Amino acid sequence: MILVLGGAGYIGSHMLKVLREVGEPHLAFDNLERGHLAALGESPFLAGDLRQPNDLTRLFAEHRIDTVMHFAAYIEVGESVKKPAEFYWNNVYGVLVLLEQMRLAGVSQIVFSSTAAVYGEPDYVPLDEAHPTRPGNPYGETKLAVERMLAAFGDAYGLRSVCLRYFNAAGADPAGVLGEDHDPETHLIPLVIQAALGRRPSIKIFGDDYPTPDGTGVRDYVHVLDLAKAHLLAVNHLRRGGASATYNLGTGHGHSVKEVISAVERVSGRPVPVEIAPRRAGDTAQLVAASDAIQRDWGWRPQFGQLDQIVEHAFRWFEAHPEGYRTPL
Ligand SMILES: NC(=O)c1ccc[n+]([C@@H]2O[C@H](COP(=O)([O-])OP(=O)(O)OC[C@H]3O[C@@H](n4cnc5c(N)ncnc54)[C@H](O)[C@@H]3O)[C@@H](O)[C@H]2O)c1
Repeated sequence: MILVLGGAGYIGSHMLKVLREVGEPHLAFDNLERGHLAALGESPFLAGDLRQPNDLTRLFAEHRIDTVMHFAAYIEVGESVKKPAEFYWNNVYGVLVLLEQMRLAGVSQIVFSSTAAVYGEPDYVPLDEAHPTRPGNPYGETKLAVERMLAAFGDAYGLRSVCLRYFNAAGADPAGVLGEDHDPETHLIPLVIQAALGRRPSIKIFGDDYPTPDGTGVRDYVHVLDLAKAHLLAVNHLRRGGASATYNLGTGHGHSVKEVISAVERVSGRPVPVEIAPRRAGDTAQLVAASDAIQRDWGWRPQFGQLDQIVEHAFRWFEAHPEGYRTPL
């Protein structure tokens, strides 16, 4: 059975849906601090906190878990700069507690949600996994610290792990019942859609003088269901006895802020009011993934690789749920 930590969150809830669809026995675990009960669907759920060893002791005693998926973390870069203690406490100490409990319970396989933020300012794009890791903020530092902890636990205790470094997770389940609902929302596609729907006065473009084709920042948007499918491949790999591995997950195509705005205007048929603001400290011009390694090794391919598809699915969710999960389903 697979344990999905952070199953009530944005990516975790899409993972649960994919696990239900393939008939894979699983259990969701979440403290609901940032997640939503309604996002869990029909998946079995246990409320608890990673940082409470007893919550996990009981869980591992009562359920036969063979593989853990870890989505449960704080994720907002700006918040991590202001509250590094909370980020290390949740994102690093929480994983230490988890790994200890896994070791005691004899569970030795984990898939970990890492991030492009481990790379920091790129020396070159697209970024491959061999690019140096120099995180530019505490969030990225916590994720890199966990990657290193997993490697050390692998060497010493035989833990096998797959670290998936996502670029910009985006989109939503096409059925329109699951989607992104972060508070505060900081991700570009939801913000632009909310501006198109009139729920925000405008969208701010932070910097239009970057060395990119239209001067705005370029990112690699990868569909949340394509991320979930990569997790299934990771579980198969670990169950076959595969060695620990680290992979990037992105489409390999970058899109600028202005391209995202145009895509939202196309999909929604509504204009998006725009304001130009100065660059934000710490933002990079371009972050695009080379995901050749996971494509070569496991045959992973983004099913929803087109920006318009990603935006369309996200739009469907926001149009039907203007208040996110607070809108009755
Ligand atoms: N969203 C992105 O673009 C992106 C990009 C790269 C990496 N990631 C990583 O993917 C993972 C999931 O991201 P998301 O966007 O779904 O985040 P999210 O905030 O929507 O989901 C995280 C979930 O974990 C739960 N959680 C947090 N701390 C917990 C704890 N101590 N105990 C139990 N539950 C806890 C929250 O309540 C929430 O439901 C994170 O680890 C994040 O760092 C996300």
